[in-house]
Amino acid sequence: MTNNKKVLTWLDEMIALTKPDQVVWVDGSEEQLAQFKKDAVAEGSLIELNQEKLPGCYLHRTAVNDVARVEGRTFICSRKQEDAGPTNNWMDPKEMYAKLEKLYDGSMIGRTMYVVPFIMGPAKSPFAKVGIELTDSLYVVLNMNIMTRMGKIALDEIGEDGDFTKCLHARKDIDEENRYIVQFPEDNTIWSINSGYGGNVLLGKKCLALRIASYLGKNEGWMAEHMLILGLQNPQGEVKYISAAFPSACGKTNLAMLIPPKEFEGYKVWTVGDDIAWMKIGPDGRLWAVNPEAGFFGVAPGTSNKTNPNALATTRSNTIFTNVALRDDNTVWWEGMGEDAPEHAIEWKGEEWTPASGEKAAHPNSRFTAPANQCPCISPEWENPNGVPISAIVFGGRRAKTAPLVYQARDWNHGVFVGATMASETTAAASGAVGVVRRDPMAMIPFCGYHMGDYFAHWLEMGKKIPNPPKIFHVNWFRLDDEGHFMWPGFGDNLRVLNWIVDRCDGKVDAKETAIGYMPYEKDINTNGLDISADTLSELLSIDKEVWKQETGGIKEFFGKFGDRLPEELNKQLATLEENLNK
Ligand code: GTP
Ligand code: SPV
Ligand code: MN
Repeated sequence: MTNNKKVLTWLDEMIALTKPDQVVWVDGSEEQLAQFKKDAVAEGSLIELNQEKLPGCYLHRTAVNDVARVEGRTFICSRKQEDAGPTNNWMDPKEMYAKLEKLYDGSMIGRTMYVVPFIMGPAKSPFAKVGIELTDSLYVVLNMNIMTRMGKIALDEIGEDGDFTKCLHARKDIDEENRYIVQFPEDNTIWSINSGYGGNVLLGKKCLALRIASYLGKNEGWMAEHMLILGLQNPQGEVKYISAAFPSACGKTNLAMLIPPKEFEGYKVWTVGDDIAWMKIGPDGRLWAVNPEAGFFGVAPGTSNKTNPNALATTRSNTIFTNVALRDDNTVWWEGMGEDAPEHAIEWKGEEWTPASGEKAAHPNSRFTAPANQCPCISPEWENPNGVPISAIVFGGRRAKTAPLVYQARDWNHGVFVGATMASETTAAASGAVGVVRRDPMAMIPFCGYHMGDYFAHWLEMGKKIPNPPKIFHVNWFRLDDEGHFMWPGFGDNLRVLNWIVDRCDGKVDAKETAIGYMPYEKDINTNGLDISADTLSELLSIDKEVWKQETGGIKEFFGKFGDRLPEELNKQLATLEENLNK
């Protein structure tokens, strides 16, 4: 399929290492994909769903020990440890290659190796990057077909002599103790072994489009971020683009597909991307963004016709579900789907289930992989090779207390501080405890492919280079009252906040200057038709200085990790915040 020597030489080496019984080039053709689906059903890795109700849809169950990203087993193997920084696991690349070669050796004996060429970003786009993933998993091949532009199109993009990210994945024994997700940024190489779950094995996604790409972006003067991209259209038909970074399972997919409340007639949200944004300075001096992906790998639980009808509609055909429950009519179900629990189902592990079992039928991190072009609100610009111009960058997380509904940074550098000091309660998207507050700067703590202090410096540097930078904001949809209920209705009603954000960008609305930045006057958040008390709104739009003073303690401790690679500007910003709080 290609004459590219770099591709062929590398492939030979990987074949010699893993020793597959056969090697299959994936060309992306319909015939070949149909055969792969048949093969996957025959081997049991996919279950065919009810083809009348869910045409082209399949269910996959992972191993019970393999249901989320594994941050503890994810490594950035730069040559020097200090280049990986204090927030990444590191091992000397030579040592890591030697260790992993032993695991990969013969790992594909008796198996087929699929050669999966793929593009991140629209083909021929100045943003596009190519990878080739070698994998022994049909689940990976079929998911990569949804999530990327896969097959011959990618080999054409590499051409005779082009470069590409070398991605190797072997399922091996799905052994947790020997599970490794390893990036070698200086070699443009990713090795993943002993997992079969989404983010660990769809190597174009978090491994390439964030960890490797963030490293490339720093060297090449652009940004790879864990951000959704949406276009907000007003009744006059003008569209403003917003990108937003929230940690895993904190609402990116939902915000990207938002349906405005009925009081907002004439407003519309267009989805450009739901997870990753690559951003470059355009010839007009603005920051332009593309979604490097071609599909959504979205969280299933909580996705309903009420919360996110667009996501649900996207998944009604040609979708692969992972770890959801199977109903007796061969359709899927999950908690928070908005349909009554079935009287009987097969739960995510493959066991019999009834509502009386007292356990969740779908895994909390169960997901759907669905083609972006099936989304009812997909932006007409989503495949524009030049991207879309970003007016506002929004940071946010899950904070029961502390962070108000929305505030605006005073300028770019302050915005970088706001992003760098983000914190959020952990979710089921990664293995480990759930609900623990941790610092997650720019929602990138699991995804930054180099020293995070240098990453902050890169953000500050970009601010100097962008003639007309986006305005920066922070939101929190997850404030809890004393009884533990969400104070803000969230979902579609988040448009009320986006509206304020866009008005601020347009200079249409005033704001209060507070210790942490600009905050809305209550009258400027349109609550028309919303059942929220004046007290609740005023609490959502206020800050508790004592709580924030404690917050500065946490920030100081976190910044301390970065030593002299923390840009001085961020210490200055912290000092300003402390001063403001003591005024
Ligand atoms: P990743 O794909 O892991 O990066 O996650 P994501 O940021 O795209 O998260 P997603 O939109 O899938 O949301 C995850 C969970 O948060 C779901 O269970 C949602 O129901 C819930 N959620 C999303 N938006 C809101 C909101 O505005 N308010 C509340 N209370 N919950 C929300
Ligand atoms: C996330 O965890 O942020 C995801 C899902 O978007 S995964 O692809 O598994 O990383
Ligand atoms: Mn994500």
